[in-house]
Amino acid sequence: MSWWCLDKTGTRPDKRKVIVHIGTSADGYIARADGDLEWLTSRPAPKGFYGMNAFMKSIDTKVLGRKTYEASLRMGAKFDSQSRSIVFSRHPRPADAPSGVQFVNGAIGPFVTRLREQPGKDIWLMGGGEIIASFLDAQAIDEFVITVAPVFIGEGIPLIARRHRHVPLDLQATERFEDGVVQLHYRVLRAPGGYC
Ligand SMILES: NC(=O)c1ccc[n+]([C@@H]2O[C@H](COP(=O)([O-])OP(=O)(O)OC[C@H]3O[C@@H](n4cnc5c(N)ncnc54)[C@H](OP(=O)(O)O)[C@@H]3O)[C@@H](O)[C@H]2O)c1
Repeated sequence: MSWWCLDKTGTRPDKRKVIVHIGTSADGYIARADGDLEWLTSRPAPKGFYGMNAFMKSIDTKVLGRKTYEASLRMGAKFDSQSRSIVFSRHPRPADAPSGVQFVNGAIGPFVTRLREQPGKDIWLMGGGEIIASFLDAQAIDEFVITVAPVFIGEGIPLIARRHRHVPLDLQATERFEDGVVQLHYRVLRAPGGYC
């Protein structure tokens, strides 16, 4: 039996949520195959940055796949001690990794259960598509906030690594921005009727 019980809609009351907050093309990619993000990052950033500034105040922990971690470093991200950063990788921690970054290799379910037991704000699962797929398969994601840029890029890295799955979603909200960006906020549904 799990330490938590779900209500009828799959919500775990009073627990930190694991939330994917991510930008995609209109055809469902998070990056070109070579990692290029120019189609996304070259867009002028509107005030509030599509709710990202407010979202950042609601989280205190970031979880990344190793490839997203490396892409973030290349883009100049600073992994300081203001929030906890956890990188999933099946390889040893690189010697030059910033001291505040924790490298994890293990079963996702028990890891997230331990994380949720610790007090704190929500947890941002930053991506990319492989780690999102691993978390989804471990039923370790509560919500998705998908910011869809009005562009097709044709091929690339999908939002969720491809394999057969059926994950029902509950649409919580949609927001349309003046520049044609649409934001979809979904809650991941679990077994109907709730379970423990
Ligand atoms: N558009 C956006 O908002 C956005 C957001 C995030 C990322 N991105 C882009 O997405 C790209 C990366 O995505 P990706 O799907 O290729 O890779 P990813 O999910 O970032 O990283 C994949 C790596 O994570 C580790 N990993 C995955 N599942 C694991 C598990 N169950 N246990 C332990 N380690 C696990 C493995 O690392 P090892 O190989 O070290 O074992 C794997 O190679 C980058 O180009 C990035 O810029 C875009």
